[in-house]
Amino acid sequence: MLLKGKIALVTGASRGIGAATALKLAKHGADVAVNYNNSVEEAQKIVDTIISNNGKAISVKANVFDQLESERMVAEVEKQLGKIDVLVLNAGANFKMAPFMEQTWEDFENKILREVKGSYWTIKAVLPSMIARNTGSIIIISSGLSRNPGYGFSTHSTAKSALDGFARALAFELGPVGIRVNVVAPGLTLTDATKFMPQAHKEAIANNTPLRKIGLPEDVAGAILLYASDETKHITGNYLPVNGGQIML
Ligand SMILES: NC(=O)c1ccc[n+]([C@@H]2O[C@H](COP(=O)([O-])OP(=O)(O)OC[C@H]3O[C@@H](n4cnc5c(N)ncnc54)[C@H](OP(=O)(O)O)[C@@H]3O)[C@@H](O)[C@H]2O)c1
Repeated sequence: MLLKGKIALVTGASRGIGAATALKLAKHGADVAVNYNNSVEEAQKIVDTIISNNGKAISVKANVFDQLESERMVAEVEKQLGKIDVLVLNAGANFKMAPFMEQTWEDFENKILREVKGSYWTIKAVLPSMIARNTGSIIIISSGLSRNPGYGFSTHSTAKSALDGFARALAFELGPVGIRVNVVAPGLTLTDATKFMPQAHKEAIANNTPLRKIGLPEDVAGAILLYASDETKHITGNYLPVNGGQIML
């Protein structure tokens, strides 16, 4: 029970890594707000699972790329659960996977702006209460592709690198007031977002990974739990790859 008494908000928690994170944080005692944008039934299933395991959870709808919706989401969570101690910025922006010369400026701009807004507005709304209480753990979900490029992923690498820089800047500014900001960078993880990838390609990646498997959402959730908990209370501005050793820093 690493998070007993804590309140957590996980964005994009209806499916994939976010859903596994909501379940993991709740299992460790946090009251959890499950943000979703479209998947109302999936979000409710996560909430029901937490409640049936004697936890506390609510679902909250918001498109986190939108300022007003993000502000409303945070206000709703504070009203229903209380001040947020752990903020996981997991909802990412989809993008066109294509070689750079097939990308337009609009493809780039669209991805970068949505990716950064998805963290920016929610962090802005949560910070006043964290600053007032001199506590908080913020975890931004980046990607291994922010540091190690992949063919066709230039928009994604650029946008996630912006998040990495944002996290370091915030960790530097907010450390003195007791707030930690860290990055978790998953490698290929089996979720809806990676369903399009041929099985043979996934197997090839697994065979070239020291731990010989592709990541599962709960693998990433385990790393997020560590940053969320006080066990890592002297770690901030860090970047944690979760990739079975495929890329080592
Ligand atoms: N899977 C991978 O291999 C991998 C690797 C590296 C990094 N990542 C990163 O990990 C994060 C989660 O990825 P995933 O693979 O778990 O994705 P996923 O399975 O496709 O799930 C996406 C989640 O994000 C939510 N979402 C999308 N846009 C949203 C918005 N505007 N506002 C609120 N919620 C929104 C979706 O909610 P609704 O369905 O309700 O709209 C859903 O719950 C992303 O930041 C991604 O870039 C993933």
